[in-house]
Amino acid sequence: MRHLMNPLDFSVEELDKLFDLANDIENNLPKYAHACDGKILATCFYEPSTRTRLSFESAMTRLGGRVIGFADANSSSAAKGESVSDTIRVISCYADICAMRHPKEGAPMVASEKSGIPVINAGDGGHYHPTQTLTDLLTIRTLKGHLDNFTIGLCGDLKFGRTVHSLINALVRYPGTRFVFISPEELRVPDYIIEMLKEKNIPYEEVIRLEDVMPQLDLLYMTRVQKERFFNEEDYVRLKDFYILDTTKMQLAKEDMLVLHPLPRVNEISVEVDDDPRAAYFRQAQYGVYVRMALILTLLGLVK
Ligand code: NCD
Repeated sequence: MRHLMNPLDFSVEELDKLFDLANDIENNLPKYAHACDGKILATCFYEPSTRTRLSFESAMTRLGGRVIGFADANSSSAAKGESVSDTIRVISCYADICAMRHPKEGAPMVASEKSGIPVINAGDGGHYHPTQTLTDLLTIRTLKGHLDNFTIGLCGDLKFGRTVHSLINALVRYPGTRFVFISPEELRVPDYIIEMLKEKNIPYEEVIRLEDVMPQLDLLYMTRVQKERFFNEEDYVRLKDFYILDTTKMQLAKEDMLVLHPLPRVNEISVEVDDDPRAAYFRQAQYGVYVRMALILTLLGLVK
Protein backbone atom coordinates (compact mmCIF):
# COMPACT_ATOMS: atom_id res chain seq x y z
CA MET A 1 0.00 0.00 0.00
CA ARG A 2 1.21 3.44 -0.92
CA HIS A 3 0.63 6.85 0.69
CA LEU A 4 1.52 10.36 -0.47
CA MET A 5 3.19 12.43 2.25
CA ASN A 6 5.88 14.31 0.41
CA PRO A 7 6.15 15.27 -3.27
CA LEU A 8 9.35 13.21 -3.39
CA ASP A 9 7.43 10.00 -2.64
CA PHE A 10 7.11 9.63 -6.41
CA SER A 11 10.17 9.39 -8.64
CA VAL A 12 10.47 11.75 -11.63
CA GLU A 13 9.48 8.84 -13.91
CA GLU A 14 6.44 8.02 -11.78
CA LEU A 15 5.43 11.67 -11.83
CA ASP A 16 5.67 11.70 -15.62
CA LYS A 17 3.29 8.74 -15.76
CA LEU A 18 0.93 10.44 -13.33
CA PHE A 19 0.92 13.64 -15.42
CA ASP A 20 0.37 11.68 -18.65
CA LEU A 21 -2.64 10.08 -16.99
CA ALA A 22 -3.89 13.49 -15.77
CA ASN A 23 -3.61 14.87 -19.32
CA ASP A 24 -5.47 11.85 -20.68
CA ILE A 25 -8.20 12.47 -18.09
CA GLU A 26 -8.31 16.13 -19.14
CA ASN A 27 -8.88 15.17 -22.76
CA ASN A 28 -11.14 12.14 -22.25
CA LEU A 29 -13.15 12.86 -19.12
CA PRO A 30 -16.12 10.55 -19.95
CA LYS A 31 -13.77 7.58 -20.27
CA TYR A 32 -13.07 7.81 -16.52
CA ALA A 33 -16.62 8.44 -15.30
CA HIS A 34 -16.95 4.97 -13.75
CA ALA A 35 -13.33 4.22 -12.95
CA CYS A 36 -13.99 4.41 -9.18
CA ASP A 37 -17.51 3.00 -9.05
CA GLY A 38 -18.13 1.60 -5.58
CA LYS A 39 -15.06 3.30 -4.03
CA ILE A 40 -15.19 5.78 -1.14
CA LEU A 41 -12.86 8.68 -0.43
CA ALA A 42 -12.76 10.10 3.12
CA THR A 43 -11.77 13.75 3.42
CA CYS A 44 -10.54 14.47 6.96
CA PHE A 45 -9.88 18.19 7.20
CA TYR A 46 -8.74 19.50 10.57
CA GLU A 47 -7.97 22.90 9.05
CA PRO A 48 -9.89 25.22 6.69
CA SER A 49 -9.82 24.59 2.96
CA THR A 50 -11.94 25.31 -0.08
CA ARG A 51 -9.94 24.20 -3.09
CA THR A 52 -8.10 21.21 -1.75
CA ARG A 53 -11.11 19.56 -0.13
CA LEU A 54 -13.56 20.36 -2.89
CA SER A 55 -11.11 19.41 -5.64
CA PHE A 56 -10.63 16.02 -3.95
CA GLU A 57 -14.39 15.63 -3.69
CA SER A 58 -14.86 16.72 -7.29
CA ALA A 59 -12.09 14.33 -8.42
CA MET A 60 -13.63 11.30 -6.69
CA THR A 61 -17.13 12.21 -7.83
CA ARG A 62 -15.98 12.61 -11.45
CA LEU A 63 -14.48 9.12 -11.19
CA GLY A 64 -17.85 7.70 -10.14
CA GLY A 65 -16.87 7.19 -6.50
CA ARG A 66 -18.38 8.65 -3.35
CA VAL A 67 -17.10 10.90 -0.62
CA ILE A 68 -17.53 11.01 3.15
CA GLY A 69 -15.72 13.18 5.66
CA PHE A 70 -15.54 16.28 7.80
CA ALA A 71 -14.39 19.80 7.04
CA ASP A 72 -13.90 21.03 10.56
CA ALA A 73 -12.03 19.39 13.43
CA ASN A 74 -14.72 20.60 15.85
CA SER A 75 -17.32 18.46 14.15
CA SER A 76 -15.14 15.33 14.43
CA SER A 77 -14.15 13.27 17.47
CA ALA A 78 -10.86 15.18 17.56
CA ALA A 79 -12.90 17.64 19.62
CA LYS A 80 -13.35 14.81 22.17
CA GLY A 81 -9.62 14.15 22.21
CA GLU A 82 -9.34 11.26 19.74
CA SER A 83 -5.87 10.80 18.18
CA VAL A 84 -5.36 10.82 14.40
CA SER A 85 -4.06 7.25 14.71
CA ASP A 86 -7.36 6.05 16.19
CA THR A 87 -9.40 8.13 13.77
CA ILE A 88 -7.65 6.66 10.73
CA ARG A 89 -8.06 3.08 12.00
CA VAL A 90 -11.77 3.67 12.12
CA ILE A 91 -11.91 5.52 8.80
CA SER A 92 -10.08 2.56 7.25
CA CYS A 93 -13.26 0.55 7.94
CA TYR A 94 -15.43 3.12 6.17
CA ALA A 95 -13.45 4.23 3.12
CA ASP A 96 -10.93 3.04 0.52
CA ILE A 97 -8.66 6.09 0.53
CA CYS A 98 -8.26 9.18 2.72
CA ALA A 99 -7.13 12.78 2.13
CA MET A 100 -6.09 14.43 5.38
CA ARG A 101 -5.26 18.06 6.19
CA HIS A 102 -3.94 18.90 9.64
CA PRO A 103 -2.46 21.99 11.33
CA LYS A 104 0.26 19.83 12.94
CA GLU A 105 3.29 19.00 10.83
CA GLY A 106 3.62 15.24 10.40
CA ALA A 107 0.06 14.37 11.54
CA PRO A 108 -0.91 12.71 8.22
CA MET A 109 2.35 10.72 8.42
CA VAL A 110 1.47 9.50 11.92
CA ALA A 111 -1.98 8.55 10.61
CA SER A 112 -0.54 6.67 7.63
CA GLU A 113 1.43 4.39 9.97
CA LYS A 114 -1.79 3.01 11.47
CA SER A 115 -3.90 3.18 8.36
CA GLY A 116 -5.39 0.26 6.45
CA ILE A 117 -5.97 2.50 3.39
CA PRO A 118 -3.80 4.92 1.38
CA VAL A 119 -3.47 8.32 3.07
CA ILE A 120 -2.81 11.50 1.11
CA ASN A 121 -1.28 14.46 2.92
CA ALA A 122 -3.55 17.36 1.94
CA GLY A 123 -1.37 19.88 3.80
CA ASP A 124 0.32 19.56 7.21
CA GLY A 125 0.96 22.84 8.98
CA GLY A 126 3.72 24.90 7.36
CA HIS A 127 5.43 21.72 6.19
CA TYR A 128 4.29 20.14 2.91
CA HIS A 129 1.37 20.19 0.53
CA PRO A 130 2.23 17.50 -2.03
CA THR A 131 -1.02 17.53 -4.00
CA GLN A 132 -0.66 21.27 -4.54
CA THR A 133 2.84 20.56 -5.84
CA LEU A 134 1.48 17.92 -8.21
CA THR A 135 -1.03 20.52 -9.38
CA ASP A 136 1.72 23.11 -9.89
CA LEU A 137 3.94 20.69 -11.80
CA LEU A 138 1.11 19.46 -14.00
CA THR A 139 0.13 23.05 -14.81
CA ILE A 140 3.69 23.99 -15.76
CA ARG A 141 4.25 20.80 -17.74
CA THR A 142 0.98 21.14 -19.64
CA LEU A 143 1.24 24.86 -20.42
CA LYS A 144 4.98 24.95 -21.07
CA GLY A 145 5.62 21.42 -22.33
CA HIS A 146 8.49 20.63 -19.93
CA LEU A 147 9.66 20.93 -16.32
CA ASP A 148 13.39 21.60 -16.72
CA ASN A 149 15.44 24.74 -17.36
CA PHE A 150 13.20 27.31 -15.72
CA THR A 151 14.06 30.38 -13.72
CA ILE A 152 11.25 30.45 -11.21
CA GLY A 153 10.49 33.36 -8.90
CA LEU A 154 8.71 32.50 -5.67
CA CYS A 155 7.23 35.59 -4.08
CA GLY A 156 5.53 36.40 -0.78
CA ASP A 157 5.46 34.29 2.35
CA LEU A 158 8.35 31.91 1.75
CA LYS A 159 8.71 31.21 5.46
CA PHE A 160 5.31 29.77 6.30
CA GLY A 161 4.09 28.81 2.82
CA ARG A 162 3.97 25.02 2.65
CA THR A 163 3.18 25.11 -1.06
CA VAL A 164 6.49 26.91 -1.60
CA HIS A 165 8.49 24.40 0.47
CA SER A 166 6.92 21.48 -1.37
CA LEU A 167 7.42 22.98 -4.80
CA ILE A 168 11.10 23.83 -4.24
CA ASN A 169 11.75 20.27 -3.10
CA ALA A 170 10.09 18.89 -6.19
CA LEU A 171 11.74 21.25 -8.70
CA VAL A 172 15.33 20.60 -7.60
CA ARG A 173 15.08 17.24 -9.35
CA TYR A 174 14.70 18.88 -12.77
CA PRO A 175 17.95 20.01 -14.46
CA GLY A 176 18.51 23.69 -15.12
CA THR A 177 16.18 24.95 -12.38
CA ARG A 178 17.14 28.36 -10.95
CA PHE A 179 15.30 29.88 -8.00
CA VAL A 180 14.71 33.54 -7.28
CA PHE A 181 13.26 34.01 -3.79
CA ILE A 182 11.39 37.28 -3.41
CA SER A 183 10.30 38.08 0.13
CA PRO A 184 10.62 40.59 2.93
CA GLU A 185 13.43 39.78 5.36
CA GLU A 186 10.96 38.41 7.94
CA LEU A 187 9.44 35.91 5.50
CA ARG A 188 12.58 34.47 3.96
CA VAL A 189 12.71 30.86 2.86
CA PRO A 190 13.76 28.62 5.82
CA ASP A 191 17.46 27.90 6.35
CA TYR A 192 17.03 24.15 5.88
CA ILE A 193 15.93 24.77 2.31
CA ILE A 194 18.86 27.11 1.61
CA GLU A 195 21.21 24.44 3.04
CA MET A 196 19.66 21.81 0.77
CA LEU A 197 20.12 24.05 -2.30
CA LYS A 198 23.75 24.75 -1.40
CA GLU A 199 24.43 21.07 -0.90
CA LYS A 200 22.97 20.21 -4.29
CA ASN A 201 24.65 23.19 -5.98
CA ILE A 202 21.34 24.57 -7.22
CA PRO A 203 21.54 28.26 -8.17
CA TYR A 204 19.35 30.63 -6.16
CA GLU A 205 19.11 34.30 -5.35
CA GLU A 206 17.26 36.09 -2.55
CA VAL A 207 15.85 39.56 -3.22
CA ILE A 208 13.32 41.93 -1.71
CA ARG A 209 12.03 43.85 -4.75
CA LEU A 210 9.90 42.00 -7.28
CA GLU A 211 10.43 44.66 -9.97
CA ASP A 212 14.19 44.07 -10.03
CA VAL A 213 13.94 40.42 -11.05
CA MET A 214 10.72 40.35 -13.07
CA PRO A 215 12.40 40.42 -16.55
CA GLN A 216 14.43 37.24 -15.91
CA LEU A 217 11.58 35.01 -14.75
CA ASP A 218 9.99 32.18 -16.77
CA LEU A 219 7.55 31.41 -13.97
CA LEU A 220 6.31 33.56 -11.10
CA TYR A 221 4.74 31.75 -8.15
CA MET A 222 2.84 34.25 -6.00
CA THR A 223 1.71 33.37 -2.48
CA ARG A 224 -0.51 34.75 0.25
CA VAL A 225 0.95 35.88 3.56
CA GLN A 226 -0.09 32.99 5.84
CA LYS A 227 -2.06 34.88 8.47
CA GLU A 228 -2.96 31.80 10.51
CA ARG A 229 0.72 30.95 11.14
CA PHE A 230 1.72 34.39 12.48
CA PHE A 231 2.35 34.81 16.16
CA ASN A 232 1.11 38.37 16.28
CA GLU A 233 -1.44 40.37 14.33
CA GLU A 234 0.82 43.43 14.13
CA ASP A 235 3.47 41.63 12.05
CA TYR A 236 0.80 40.25 9.76
CA VAL A 237 -0.75 43.67 9.16
CA ARG A 238 2.67 45.15 8.42
CA LEU A 239 3.59 42.45 5.88
CA LYS A 240 0.32 41.43 4.27
CA ASP A 241 0.41 43.92 1.39
CA PHE A 242 4.16 43.89 0.86
CA TYR A 243 3.71 42.60 -2.71
CA ILE A 244 0.93 43.43 -5.09
CA LEU A 245 1.34 42.15 -8.63
CA ASP A 246 -0.39 44.58 -10.99
CA THR A 247 -0.43 45.30 -14.72
CA THR A 248 2.47 47.77 -14.41
CA LYS A 249 4.73 45.09 -12.96
CA MET A 250 3.47 42.60 -15.55
CA GLN A 251 4.82 44.91 -18.26
CA LEU A 252 8.32 44.12 -17.02
CA ALA A 253 7.84 40.38 -17.47
CA LYS A 254 8.62 38.09 -20.40
CA GLU A 255 5.80 37.66 -22.88
CA ASP A 256 5.47 33.99 -22.08
CA MET A 257 6.06 34.11 -18.31
CA LEU A 258 3.38 32.23 -16.38
CA VAL A 259 1.90 33.57 -13.15
CA LEU A 260 0.93 30.80 -10.76
CA HIS A 261 -0.74 31.02 -7.35
CA PRO A 262 -2.04 28.13 -5.22
CA LEU A 263 -4.97 30.36 -4.19
CA PRO A 264 -6.68 31.68 -2.13
CA ARG A 265 -5.54 35.12 -3.21
CA VAL A 266 -5.93 38.01 -0.83
CA ASN A 267 -4.39 41.23 -2.23
CA GLU A 268 -1.14 39.96 -3.71
CA ILE A 269 -2.42 39.80 -7.29
CA SER A 270 -4.59 42.65 -8.40
CA VAL A 271 -7.75 41.42 -10.21
CA GLU A 272 -6.79 43.35 -13.34
CA VAL A 273 -4.01 40.78 -13.90
CA ASP A 274 -6.64 38.02 -14.27
CA ASP A 275 -7.27 39.08 -17.88
CA ASP A 276 -3.60 38.79 -18.81
CA PRO A 277 -3.05 35.59 -20.85
CA ARG A 278 -0.02 34.87 -18.66
CA ALA A 279 -2.22 34.55 -15.56
CA ALA A 280 -2.50 30.77 -15.11
CA TYR A 281 -3.88 30.47 -11.57
CA PHE A 282 -7.46 29.61 -12.44
CA ARG A 283 -6.32 27.05 -15.01
CA GLN A 284 -4.05 25.73 -12.25
CA ALA A 285 -7.12 25.14 -10.04
CA GLN A 286 -8.65 23.10 -12.87
CA TYR A 287 -5.50 21.00 -13.19
CA GLY A 288 -5.79 20.33 -9.46
CA VAL A 289 -8.85 18.20 -10.18
CA TYR A 290 -7.26 16.21 -13.01
CA VAL A 291 -4.11 15.48 -11.05
CA ARG A 292 -6.09 14.37 -7.99
CA MET A 293 -8.15 12.07 -10.22
CA ALA A 294 -4.91 10.57 -11.54
CA LEU A 295 -3.54 10.27 -8.00
CA ILE A 296 -6.63 8.51 -6.63
CA LEU A 297 -6.55 6.02 -9.51
CA THR A 298 -2.84 5.41 -8.99
CA LEU A 299 -2.98 4.92 -5.21
CA LEU A 300 -5.99 2.64 -5.52
CA GLY A 301 -4.09 0.52 -8.04
CA LEU A 302 -6.71 1.13 -10.72
CA VAL A 303 -4.34 2.22 -13.48
CA LYS A 304 -4.16 -0.35 -16.24
C1 NCD B 1 -2.69 26.65 0.00
C2 NCD B 1 -2.55 25.97 1.34
O1 NCD B 1 -3.56 25.53 1.91
O2 NCD B 1 -1.43 25.85 1.78
N1 NCD B 1 -3.98 26.60 -0.52
C3 NCD B 1 -4.34 25.53 -1.29
O3 NCD B 1 -4.37 24.42 -0.86
N2 NCD B 1 -4.60 25.80 -2.58
C4 NCD B 1 -2.17 28.01 -0.03
C5 NCD B 1 -2.66 28.98 0.98
O4 NCD B 1 -3.50 28.68 1.82
O5 NCD B 1 -2.17 30.10 0.92
